[in-house]
Amino acid sequence: MRILVIHGPNLDLLGKREPEIYGKDTLDDINNMLKEEAYKRNVELDIVQTDHEGEIVTQIGKSSKKVSAIIINPAAYTHTSIAIRDAIEASSVPVIEVHLSNIYSREEFRHTSVIAPVSKGQISGFGSYSYYLALLAAIKVVG
Ligand code: DQA
Repeated sequence: MRILVIHGPNLDLLGKREPEIYGKDTLDDINNMLKEEAYKRNVELDIVQTDHEGEIVTQIGKSSKKVSAIIINPAAYTHTSIAIRDAIEASSVPVIEVHLSNIYSREEFRHTSVIAPVSKGQISGFGSYSYYLALLAAIKVVG
């Protein structure tokens, strides 16, 4: 089983970026944890971080031939990107949406996810542990 993990804009700044909201773990810490857990479960991971909306669309579009599931933290694009939503809708690959913070307990503009309605499910609010839960969810969904 191969799973694609997509980290959206500014997530390369984790560790330094508002640690009181996003925690102290860096993106490398999160990716290493995911790789370790995936290895234990005999799952292969492709991991990308990009600040660019179009690159996320391209990655989703290319993924259907390569992976069984996608874990995505679309970051700020969660709230705005119809292009990413359309790419997910057009794809046959199940998508797990993940957020470090609880987007529903923050500013009102974060309460809407345009990605959630086309995702298999959403995990939000558990810091870097959200990604661990997303990995388990993705494995379960693929079966
Ligand atoms: C985020 C929440 C978004 O609202 C924000 O723009 C992010 C990170 C999270 O993981 O909590 O960049 O997706």
